[in-house]
Amino acid sequence: MIPAKRRTAVLISGRGSNLRALIEASETGADYPARIALVLSNKPEAEGLAIAREHGIETAVIESKGKERAAFDAEMHALLQSKGIELVCLAGFMRLLTPDFVQAWYGRMINIHPSLLPAFKGTQVHERVVAAGVRVTGCTVHFVSPEMDEGPIILQATVPVPPDATAESVAAAVLEQEHALYPQALKLLAEGKLVIEGQRVRLG
Ligand code: GAR
Repeated sequence: MIPAKRRTAVLISGRGSNLRALIEASETGADYPARIALVLSNKPEAEGLAIAREHGIETAVIESKGKERAAFDAEMHALLQSKGIELVCLAGFMRLLTPDFVQAWYGRMINIHPSLLPAFKGTQVHERVVAAGVRVTGCTVHFVSPEMDEGPIILQATVPVPPDATAESVAAAVLEQEHALYPQALKLLAEGKLVIEGQRVRLG
């Protein structure tokens, strides 16, 4: 019997190019083990919502602006549960989550970050990468933990930083790697192949 595809929600705040990569991977591979069942944005103007609609995927907006963090997270949690969501991917979701929410989804919620964590956490990553003069950067998919950009690392991809690199050129090169990496990581998660052992992830 073919196992059911895991019902996955993607949380976004903006452009949605990683969302698109996840949708395309889930639609093209008949054996891809996850299905994007819901796209949730904390901003009504997020461009990624249109990508979801183009693909006939249910969308929801829960505005975070002016809302208590705990109330916002509780509303999201209730919605995810009511839709039977099993896995959550943060894809450019620029909002800190409460420890309660993270705990409720621990081991089932992953994030993509545009650097080789634990280097360059936070925002303005590519500007800082160029200013620091590093020769290699990349992207990381990790489990979400209560501390920002700190959860157990699942997969990473590297990108060279040439001496004449700009924040824009690095961003473009990293983004291309992100689009390949995130679908691979979601596949591993949905197949139940990731075992968290403390801060480390074993590929089972
Ligand atoms: C991506 O580069 C992603 O790694 C980054 O935001 C961008 C979203 O682009 N996420 C973070 O910085 C999270 N800390 P997208 O909306 O086109 O996927």
